[in-house]
Amino acid sequence: MRQPVAILTNCIIRRFVQTQNNLHHAKQQPNNLKGKSKSSQEWLTRQLADPYVEKAHMLNYRCRSAFKLLEMDDKYKVLKPGDVVIDCGAAPGSWTQVAVERTNANGKIERSPRGAVFSIDLLHFHAVPGATIFGGMDFTAQLAQKRLRESLAGRQVNCVLSDMAPNATGVRMLDQESITNLCYEVLRFALAMSAPQANLVIKIWDNGDVPKLERDILCYYEKLKRVKPRASRGDSSEHFLLAKGFKGAPTLTT
Ligand SMILES: C[S@@+](CC[C@H](N)C(=O)[O-])C[C@H]1O[C@@H](n2cnc3c(N)ncnc32)[C@H](O)[C@@H]1O
Repeated sequence: MRQPVAILTNCIIRRFVQTQNNLHHAKQQPNNLKGKSKSSQEWLTRQLADPYVEKAHMLNYRCRSAFKLLEMDDKYKVLKPGDVVIDCGAAPGSWTQVAVERTNANGKIERSPRGAVFSIDLLHFHAVPGATIFGGMDFTAQLAQKRLRESLAGRQVNCVLSDMAPNATGVRMLDQESITNLCYEVLRFALAMSAPQANLVIKIWDNGDVPKLERDILCYYEKLKRVKPRASRGDSSEHFLLAKGFKGAPTLTT
């Protein structure tokens, strides 16, 4: 016969496990919504329900976007140890964190070539060990691109990343034009600075200009794919154009 103490202990343990499971599965509701605007309330609720937010927190990534790049790199191999990477629109820095890890820019992978990561954003953001940060700079400004070129000191780039997005005005046509202009700015920079066989990853918002942009990119790269990583929210028109195999600097015709 089982002892009453053992039965009681089992009950307590079972109840504890049940409570933990319930806590884990219950839909979490933020408790600090009072006084917040409707859009802030929706944002907080969505953040709490988002598994990538929790995962980013656990793995010390600065934001959930890290998983978009991790997924694309796992599947399409755009980064490798030793690569030189430019990360455009890098704040708060989660793509930079991933790029540093995957290129070994922090030297943590022994007996592997050491890469270099240069990250730029309009906003100022905290240093990422292993990366060179250009905060408070507009990538489209000549001065910013000059600073990037100087930092490269003659090295060619193996991968240009752009997660840049303009501030949406809500006027669809204007927003489309702004992101398309950003994409062409990144493409022009990539064409001028990339090593043969380099890769390019650019964020776009799906719009009527994208097919032309794809055709233009394909003039200079061997392969192109339009990708929607799982971590990219389903209700967003965000996609990424992933180009591989830069064919080499275009020759200028007179
Ligand atoms: C979605 S966030 C990038 C998130 C980042 N990839 C990460 O993982 O932490 C987009 C960023 O693009 C930046 N941005 C937009 N236009 C820019 C420009 N012209 N020059 C530099 N950064 C720009 C914004 O300031 C914003 O921080």
